[in-house]
Amino acid sequence: MSEPQPIYLSDYRPPAYRVTRTELTFDLDPAATRVKARLHVERHPEHEAGVPLELDGEQLNLKAIAIDGQALGEDEYAVGEAGMVVHRVPQAFLLDTEVEVAPDANTALSGLYRSSGMYCTQCEAEGFRRITFYPDRPDVMATFSTTVIGDAATLPVLLSNGNPVERGTLPGGRHFVTWEDPHPKPSYLFALVAGDLEKVEDRFTTMSGREVTLQIWVEEENLDKTDHAMASLQRAMAWDEQAYGREYDLDLFMIVAVNDFNMGAMENKGLNIFNSAAVLTHPHTATDAAFQRVEGIVAHEYFHNWSGNRVTCRDWFQLSLKEGFTVFRDQCFSADTNSAPVKRIEDVSFFRTAQFAEDAGPTAHPVRPDHYIEIGNFYTLTIYEKGAEIVRMLSNLVGEEAFRRGSDLYFSRFDGQAVTIEDFVDCMAEASGEDLGQFLRWYSQAGTPEIDAHGEYDYANAEYRLVLRQRTPATPGQAEKQALHIPVRLGLVGTKSGRDLPLTLDGEALGTDAVIHLREDEQEFLFTEVSEAPVPSLARGFSAPVKLNFPYGREDLAFLQAHDSDGFNRWDAGQRLALLALDDLIAAHRNGVEKVMDPRVVEAFRAVLAARIDDKAVLAQMLTLPSEAYIAEQQPLVDVDAIHAARTFVKQSLTMALRDDFLRLYEENRSEVPYAPEPEQIAARSLKNVALSYLMAIEDEAGLEFAQAQFAADHNMTDVRHALTLLVHGSRGDIADPALKAFGEKWAHDPLVMDQWFSLQVTRPQADVLDRVKFLMAHPAFSLKNPNRVRALIGAFANQNPVNFHRADGAGYRLLADTVIELNRLNPEIAARLITPLTRWARFDEARQELMKAELERIRAEELSPNVYEVVEKALA
Ligand code: TRP
Ligand code: ZN
Repeated sequence: MSEPQPIYLSDYRPPAYRVTRTELTFDLDPAATRVKARLHVERHPEHEAGVPLELDGEQLNLKAIAIDGQALGEDEYAVGEAGMVVHRVPQAFLLDTEVEVAPDANTALSGLYRSSGMYCTQCEAEGFRRITFYPDRPDVMATFSTTVIGDAATLPVLLSNGNPVERGTLPGGRHFVTWEDPHPKPSYLFALVAGDLEKVEDRFTTMSGREVTLQIWVEEENLDKTDHAMASLQRAMAWDEQAYGREYDLDLFMIVAVNDFNMGAMENKGLNIFNSAAVLTHPHTATDAAFQRVEGIVAHEYFHNWSGNRVTCRDWFQLSLKEGFTVFRDQCFSADTNSAPVKRIEDVSFFRTAQFAEDAGPTAHPVRPDHYIEIGNFYTLTIYEKGAEIVRMLSNLVGEEAFRRGSDLYFSRFDGQAVTIEDFVDCMAEASGEDLGQFLRWYSQAGTPEIDAHGEYDYANAEYRLVLRQRTPATPGQAEKQALHIPVRLGLVGTKSGRDLPLTLDGEALGTDAVIHLREDEQEFLFTEVSEAPVPSLARGFSAPVKLNFPYGREDLAFLQAHDSDGFNRWDAGQRLALLALDDLIAAHRNGVEKVMDPRVVEAFRAVLAARIDDKAVLAQMLTLPSEAYIAEQQPLVDVDAIHAARTFVKQSLTMALRDDFLRLYEENRSEVPYAPEPEQIAARSLKNVALSYLMAIEDEAGLEFAQAQFAADHNMTDVRHALTLLVHGSRGDIADPALKAFGEKWAHDPLVMDQWFSLQVTRPQADVLDRVKFLMAHPAFSLKNPNRVRALIGAFANQNPVNFHRADGAGYRLLADTVIELNRLNPEIAARLITPLTRWARFDEARQELMKAELERIRAEELSPNVYEVVEKALA
């Protein structure tokens, strides 16, 4: 086998032939589905006559091919591994092909496959080429007509994009439905679903009065789990009208829940296909976090109808054009619908833990990569989340109104086109008059910029001198970095008054909260008329995706935590303070020195509790310690055992000091009212459960009693799962084991609940957990072929159980590598994602480095899919 070769952005050429209309007929069969395609093709005027027609195609069994009704002779075309070439074609013509594909043999879940007996498709990014021969690239846009033929008894429901225009019965117990999608679209947005499904239906009236039918299609037993997704969809539709002026453009919008799915969901035109985990909710089966995730994903896929579908990407290098923008849109929607500060805290916590780690590792890449081997490997935190942070910076730079004018311009100018990231940024520049030239570097430069900040207060002159220095560390293939345009939102908090001081810069009054622009490697900002010594509050709201270092003392941080007017930075000051204390404890643990709790952290927590913060969700966040993964991200070298020990020690110390407060919080926030996934309830539950976590950190009688009672009360999954997790992660097997068993038996029929049952067991810190992982892999509810199961069991173990995954004997690494090797054959996309924790070997001690690299080498020795090949090569480069 020859090595897979990279594709370069600089090699982009417009397609020689375009397809203006695509007519498909599927005759469904598990082992041999027939796909007839009639393509209306024309040569692009810029290309000369005689260019051969190149079509993508993988794993297709060609049965017939004709041009303008004339069957082609064998010497008129050539079929290879990746597609076909037709040597000579007219300027405009009809191409008819017929191929056979095998849905049941498709374990990669890309193209046409079967899931729980139903047929479904996943075409992004390059799955359509597994369905028919086609120019499978996003800059080829056609209208589609799709006829689906299937067995009427077993496949009563036949769906595709657009509107149903014809249906009827056929001999042999078969029937058909024809769908017409009037909006030209690239092949990656094609979808087909066929199965024995039930629907929930509702309506939405758009701002111009168009009546839209909304349908959610599920297996019958899940009909009671669709309310929240439907309500979320309706809220998202209204929000996109109000916030962006975007209206839905078909008479029908469908969502289908599928059990086997590689990602969260897919925005196929008019027919969104969802991982069942991203759409189904019920108070007894889904946690608050799951309810919020469903709301966010439903909105995200809906928002793609404009940012992605109506205006799409010219090529896959532009992926963040649709994903970064759409993530930004769904984040704003969720912030408007729930607690905005908490949404930001959650997003940034996740970002700083996972995206920073990606940006610092061997798979680091720019938000617009300049080459890739397998595009499936680029659905990353960098493309999605860092892309969203860039759009957020743009919005803050140009201001909300200009941003809206810019997005209106973008949608109208490029409607129906496949465009680039420059096209988007140009609209923002045009609408605002801002020069965004330097800003564009955010898209091409990988790595997390670091800003070293220093400040000095000159009492005599009432001046505050702030010096900012930026640098971006080298990343693979990018040794030299250029200065970025970084918006730094800040305030100066007076140490006497505890208030934001008026900001005067270069004689200009900026108010008390302003954005300064760092463009050079180093820049000095001199604030005048500063009436008292301040503590600076920098990068408020995480105004740029950077690491900002300032030599804060612990008193400064306690002060900001109490006084910062920016809720995000107030929370962050507490995190920074806890991190300083954790640093000391990690060092103490490593040196075998007795651990001593920093009383300033205890006092800071006491102050937070006394401050009577009225947003309970914010309070819960302020009482939550940085995760082990985030602590690890801050360490020069990761010592998983020391981190775990230090964090556990802090938790226990806080509980000992503040036990009565946690008891009070727990009791005050208990509630018997029927479950609803609404912000106030969610906030109270999160606060109550944070309190319970502390009480369970020392496993005293009250904690154990509360946890047991909360589990037994069986009021909602948030509470049940939290209590069960605390029990299982604790030391009282006599209580935990029967609870775990009862839960497993009760929910054996519900795979999404069993996923939670798997996860909470394999994230247990106790040393016996690896045997548990192996044991559970043989459980009847587990299957390597199902991505949700793999993520819940193997993924949770490798990513959320640092002490056990990084066992000193390397057994955790071995288990992961064994799984990757098996999945490489079954599902390359999932296999490649699963390797991530092994790619981070450079962060650990030498012995672990060697063990991790040895497992990567063992994977490399296999015959690899391009997906796994690309990740492993980078990891070992
Ligand atoms: N476009 C989808 C989204 O972000 C992502 C997606 C769904 C996807 N399924 C996929 C990407 C399979 C690659 C492969 O909403
Ligand atoms: Zn998306």
